[in-house]
Amino acid sequence: MEQSRVFLQRVHGEVTADDRMRIFRQYPVTIWLTGLSAAGKSTIAYQLEQQLLSLGHACYVLDGDNIRHGLARDLTFNEKDRRENIRRVAHVAQLMNDAGLIVITALISPMREDRAMARDIVGPGKFIETYLSASVDTCARRDPKGLYAKARAGEITSFTGVSAPYEAPDDPELKIDTATQTPAESVAKILAYVRDNGLVNPGCVERV
Ligand code: ADX
Repeated sequence: MEQSRVFLQRVHGEVTADDRMRIFRQYPVTIWLTGLSAAGKSTIAYQLEQQLLSLGHACYVLDGDNIRHGLARDLTFNEKDRRENIRRVAHVAQLMNDAGLIVITALISPMREDRAMARDIVGPGKFIETYLSASVDTCARRDPKGLYAKARAGEITSFTGVSAPYEAPDDPELKIDTATQTPAESVAKILAYVRDNGLVNPGCVERV
């Protein structure tokens, strides 16, 4: 272990995560959206945030495009940097969950191993892997930012689905086909999942 880390210890305040759960009346989970660029992650994340908020739940979206303007502005799109991006966001999500908030992340997070790392960091029972499935062709047809066209023309390298891999989740908590479902239908599915699992009802604190 690095010498300076030997002396690092965790410290704790008087307020526990359970106290925060009781106050917020919610079980703070991380809804981890994964899928190709233009699969609908940001649209669904922000609509979900709005709906959860209107139901009285404190939540916040961590969107890859925004994170890459600040927390991850030093990172590229190679495999190592994407992994670091995901590690940082997972730690922020864990901290926000600890603070009592529901977190929705919208990152491509293309590699299974990296999503498994995020699951470990966020913690057992708190990570809801939600696969927004849409084929490369569907996403390339939407291409809201013109990135697929640029990637196919070779103007952008290592572009997910074109010149970099996307590994679909094997066993996600939720899988939604965004080629056939509208954003509103997708949001309703996620809301139903968190409700059915007792994660956003007042009674949810009984889980702990
Ligand atoms: S991740 O792979 O590290 O999870 P992240 O979600 O943060 O990616 O960022 C993806 C966004 O960055 C895309 O929605 C797109 O707007 C932009 N982007 C720019 N270059 C690339 C690239 N080479 N591959 C994928 N997305 C890219």
